[in-house]
Amino acid sequence: LALVGIGAQASDFPAKDKPITIVVPFAAGGPTDRVARDLAEAMRKPLGGVSILVDNAAGAGGSIGANKVAKAAPDGYTLLVHHIGMATMPTLVRNIPFKVETDFEYLGGINDVPMTIIAKPTLPANNMKELVAWVAANKGKINLGNAGVGSASHLCGLLFQEALKTDMTPVPYKGTAPAMTDLIGGQIDLMCDQTTNTTSQIEAKKVKAFAVTSPKRLSTAALKDIPTMQESGFKDFQVSIWHGLYAPKGTPADVAKKLNDALKVALKDPDFIKKQEGLGAVVVTDKRMDSADHKKFVAAEIAKWSPIIKAAGVYAD
Ligand code: MLT
Repeated sequence: LALVGIGAQASDFPAKDKPITIVVPFAAGGPTDRVARDLAEAMRKPLGGVSILVDNAAGAGGSIGANKVAKAAPDGYTLLVHHIGMATMPTLVRNIPFKVETDFEYLGGINDVPMTIIAKPTLPANNMKELVAWVAANKGKINLGNAGVGSASHLCGLLFQEALKTDMTPVPYKGTAPAMTDLIGGQIDLMCDQTTNTTSQIEAKKVKAFAVTSPKRLSTAALKDIPTMQESGFKDFQVSIWHGLYAPKGTPADVAKKLNDALKVALKDPDFIKKQEGLGAVVVTDKRMDSADHKKFVAAEIAKWSPIIKAAGVYAD
């Protein structure tokens, strides 16, 4: 009877009347939140019309939200949408209360999002050459917004400071949505943020855009005239922020499979794909949608970023 009970439980997933919660480890309105809400909408139908809520559990560069899911019941009803921070946290944040490699079921990859170097609208530079000169002339007085140590904007900001051989004052927020408000208002000077968050502000000329961090220029209308970092003289500067979907370790295999199946249907949804492309993002290949592949992919990313971060000598306790 017990065995049938357990079997029946997994095959009932998801129960009609029990919402699934996707935890977003950053503030509402930011790039991670954007991906999660669009994904939630596209996953509802393949999960039988179940309601999918988004819970913004922000703070500590994304590790608070990740920890909330690591400690959640492994029943498939609490998921995490996170990004490259899953690969940088193990190096950047020395005492996170969970293990990225062992405390999650890796359900699959979602998308790749390029970043943009943007500035407050009043910053007196109109191209990367002038920006580099302005940074050099204002050493020690520049505020660089990010979403906390371990965030994508923090990582890109680190690489940008290294490329310009300068130090800026990091101003951490609970996400790049609140950071963007201050950038538009001129309270902070610069930020490196994902196109899912910056495209609309660049289009509305609320911020100045100096470069994209993709290997080639982007085709999105509002972004196509922005030079790459490569064109701007920083040949090795490429940052792409991938996102993935995770559940707590111990989630039953059939539940994880149902979630991965629904993820794959969502990532093939023409509406979802169109939304991603309109924001400069690209849905991952079929291979990277696979759970086992995503786990291997993140392990390789941890190995890739660890020496880069150590070389930058930045840690957060
Ligand atoms: C990040 O910079 O890590 C995220 O994009 C922040 C956010 O989603 O608000």
